[in-house]
Amino acid sequence: MYDLNKILVGLAIFLLFFTFPILYGMGSAVPAPKPKLDTPEIQKLTDKKCVEDTHFMRTSHMQFLNYWRDKAVREDQRTYDSKLNGKKYDISLQNTCMKCHSNKKDFCDSCHTYASVKPYCWDCHIEPKAAKESM
Ligand code: HEC
Ligand code: HEC
Ligand code: HEC
Repeated sequence: MYDLNKILVGLAIFLLFFTFPILYGMGSAVPAPKPKLDTPEIQKLTDKKCVEDTHFMRTSHMQFLNYWRDKAVREDQRTYDSKLNGKKYDISLQNTCMKCHSNKKDFCDSCHTYASVKPYCWDCHIEPKAAKESM
């Protein structure tokens, strides 16, 4: 006859040892990236602001870029009036976004690698030089 208690105790010990590394590592999972903002263009800004507010940019830049593309390509509208500060920006991925965020690798890519997204934009659009040189 099997001794059910012994089996259960054995099983519990096995599970504890087996999952220990996973449980132990739980608190120290890979930290979320901190996208770097120290580019020459951003250093020059007196007001360290993006084209719209931080939360919007963080959560909605993908849709925002599509919106920009449609404005430029479908409506031939090439300037954008910011709702944040009333400034006018040229609608351009390369010449506007990537002028300030010239550190693509430490900015865009740091988040995208973490989130496992690979925007295909750079098949056609040109990456900033800084990103290429440091690759
Ligand atoms: C005039 C310079 C400038 C331009 C142009 C610019 N940014 Fe920014 N961006 C900043 C600064 C400064 C911050 C940090 C302050 C903030 O988040 O408001 C920032 C923040 C962000 C963030 C949030 C980062 C975080 O920590 O979560 C994203 C995403 C972003 N920008 C994407 C873009 C995209 C996409 C474009 C083009 C549509 C763009 N930026 C254009 C200067 C710029
Ligand atoms: C704060 C982190 C963060 C920063 C900084 C950031 N992104 Fe993103 N980006 C994300 C996340 C997360 C997603 C995926 C969102 C989703 O799938 O809904 C994403 C998705 C995208 C997409 C859509 C890709 C797809 O396949 O759907 C584009 C385009 C994009 N980002 C462009 C940029 C550009 C250009 C920059 C730099 C100027 C940038 N992002 C900076 C976090 C970031
Ligand atoms: C197959 C090639 C191709 C791919 C891939 C591509 N684009 Fe474009 N994109 C273009 C062309 C061509 C234009 C028109 C250029 C113009 O009229 O100034 C354009 C224009 C744009 C514009 C407005 C004008 C400008 O110069 O920035 C934005 C914003 C834009 N694309 C964003 C994106 C984003 C974001 C992605 C990735 C999710 C992407 N594009 C992927 C070819 C491409």
